[in-house]
Amino acid sequence: MCGIVGYLGEKNTKEILLDGLKELEYRGYDSAGIAVLENGNFSNFKAVGKLVNLEDKTKDYETKGFAAGIGHTRWATHGKPTELNAHPHLGESSYVVHNGIIENYAEIKKELIRKGVTFLSQTDTEVIVHQFEKNLKSELNALKAFSKTISELNGAYAILLVTKSEPDTIFFAKHGSPMLVGISCDDNEGSSERDNTMSCEKYFASSDTPLIGHCSDVNYFEDGDYGYVTSDEIVIFDKDGAKKDPIFSALSQNKLSAQKDGFRFFMEKEIYEQSDVISDTLMGRVGDEEIHFDELDKTLFNGINEIKLCACGTSYHAAMTASYLFERYSKIRTTLEIASEFRYRDPIMSKDTLFVVISQSGETADTLETLKMAKKAGLKTLVICNVDNSSMVRLADACILTRAGIEKGVASTKAFATQVTVFWMLSLYIAKLKNSLEDQKIARQVSLLREIPTHVKVTDEMHERIKRLSKRYLHGHGFFFIGRDVFYPLALEGALKLKEISYLHAEGYPSGEMKHGPIALADPELFTIALLPEHLHYEKSKSNVEELSARDSTICAISALEFDKADDFVQISTCQDYMLEFFEMMIVVQLLSLEISIRLGNDVDMPRNLAKSVTVE
Ligand code: G6P
Repeated sequence: MCGIVGYLGEKNTKEILLDGLKELEYRGYDSAGIAVLENGNFSNFKAVGKLVNLEDKTKDYETKGFAAGIGHTRWATHGKPTELNAHPHLGESSYVVHNGIIENYAEIKKELIRKGVTFLSQTDTEVIVHQFEKNLKSELNALKAFSKTISELNGAYAILLVTKSEPDTIFFAKHGSPMLVGISCDDNEGSSERDNTMSCEKYFASSDTPLIGHCSDVNYFEDGDYGYVTSDEIVIFDKDGAKKDPIFSALSQNKLSAQKDGFRFFMEKEIYEQSDVISDTLMGRVGDEEIHFDELDKTLFNGINEIKLCACGTSYHAAMTASYLFERYSKIRTTLEIASEFRYRDPIMSKDTLFVVISQSGETADTLETLKMAKKAGLKTLVICNVDNSSMVRLADACILTRAGIEKGVASTKAFATQVTVFWMLSLYIAKLKNSLEDQKIARQVSLLREIPTHVKVTDEMHERIKRLSKRYLHGHGFFFIGRDVFYPLALEGALKLKEISYLHAEGYPSGEMKHGPIALADPELFTIALLPEHLHYEKSKSNVEELSARDSTICAISALEFDKADDFVQISTCQDYMLEFFEMMIVVQLLSLEISIRLGNDVDMPRNLAKSVTVE
C-alpha cells in the first residue's frame, strides 16, 4: 500500500527520503518518487518498480543545505503503475503526495479542466495540487489556500505539500489515513509535552518505521488535523480550524513491532486491514449500477462458453467460491482445477474456454505452468493476482489486480478476501455483458458489494469473544469446518487456516456430505465449526448440524440466528445477503485460527514447513 515520507531540515534530504521509503517497502508498492525544494528550486524524480530504480535516477543528485522534501511509494489503484501516475504530483510550482482516496476528484477535475488546467496523470491525487494552486490565486496566503483546498476534498487522505510560494514549509493534512510528524529531542530531557520550537528538523511518515533512528518523539495526527511545519514551528489546526498543540510521545525504537502497527503478528494486522484493502479493491470498479473493469477488453469474453479456474491453496478456495458465483449470476459453465493436478492429467482444452488463474504472488510454479499450458493450447487467459509485474501477470492476456497490498503472514487472509471480492464483481461484470441477470438484480448486487468493508471490520467484542472461545479448542482429535454452497469453500479455507498455523488436524467438508462417512467420527472430541448463513439453505444446513449434535460432536456454530443445539455460538451481525454473511464468517474463522495458534505458542507468521510463495514443484 502507499507510503509517505517528508523531511525538512539541513541534513542529507535525499538520503533521508530514500531511506524512509525503504522502510515502507514492506507495505508493497509499484512506483516511487521524491520532490525536494532547495533554494527556491524543485528537483523531482520518479521511477516505476523497485526503489533501486529511483536510487539509480537520483545517483547524481545531492542536497547541500536546508531543504523541504516529500516522498512516496505508490501501490497502483487509480491508474496504472507508470511514472506519470507516480507521486509526487506537480502543479505549476508545488508538489503533493497523498495516501487514500479523493472521492470527489472527478468533479473537481472536470471543473479544473474547464478552467484550462492540464492533467498529466490518471490519479485522483493530482487534483489536490491543482486545486491548491487555483485557491492560491484568490486566497491571502498558502496556508489559507491549503486549508480551503482540504475543506473541498471528500474521502480519506494523508497529504504533504510543498510549494514555492512558501518555500521553507511543508503543509500537511490527515483524514482517515495515518500520518505522524517527528522531532529529535536528543538535547532535551524528559517531558512528553515538547516545546515544538526546539528542533529545527521535522520528519513525516505514514507509519512509525521511517522515523525510527531519526526521531525520539512523535505526534500522531488525528482525523481533521491540518497545518504546516517550518524549521522552528509545528502548527496544527483541528477539523474546526482551531489551533492545537502537538502531543508528543516517545517513539518505540523497535522496527519489527512498528511494522506490525502494534499488532502481535502480521497475520493479525492483515485480518484487521481487510476493510481498507477491500475498499481499494472496489475503488473505481463499482459504479452506480454496474461493475467497471477498465483493465479488461470486453472482447476477452467473445465466443467464451466456459470458464476454467485454476489455482493452489487459498487461491483455489477463492476460485471455488467464484465457481458458484459465475454459474449463479453470469450463467456460464465453470470448472475448477487444482493446478498441481491439472498439469499432469492430459486435460482437454477447447478454445471456447477462458482460462483463469488465481494467485496472490503470481509466481506459484504449479499455477504458472498451467497458464503456460493454456496459452500453448491457444486459450484466452486471465489472471487474478495481487502482485503487478509478476510472472503470471506478464504472461496472461489480461489481468485484474486484487490490490491487497503486501501480505506478510504465510497464512493468507486479506489476499483471499480481495480475491473473493474481485470474483463477486467479475461475476456481475460478465452477467451484464451476457445479459444473464436483470439490470435491477445487478444493481442490487452492486450495492451489496459496497457494504463489504463495513462487514469485515473487526470489533473488539468479536475478537474478545473468539479469544475466550479459543481456549476450548486446543485438544481433541480434529476439526470439521462445514458449510454449503459458497460456505463450503469458506469451510475449506477455515480448515486450511487452522491446519497451517495451529498444526491441528482440520478438514473442510460440505455439510450435506458428513452423513456419507465422516459422521462416523462424531464424538465430544470431534469439533465441528458449522457455518450457518441465514440467507442460503439455512434449514438444510441446520439439519446437517443437528445430525452431528445428536451424535455428541462438539459444535461451534457461526450464524446470525441463535442456534440452541450448539455448544458454542458466535453471532455475526444481521446481513442483507449471504455473500455479506460469507465475509463476516470469514473474519470469524480467521480469528479463531489465529487465537488457537497463539494459545498453542506457535509462530503465527511463519508456520513450520510452509513458504509464502512456492516457486518449485
Ligand atoms: C503457498 C502458500 C499459500 C498459498 C499458495 C498459493 O502454499 O503457503 O498460502 O495459498 O501457496 O499461492 P498463490 O501465491 O499462488 O496464491
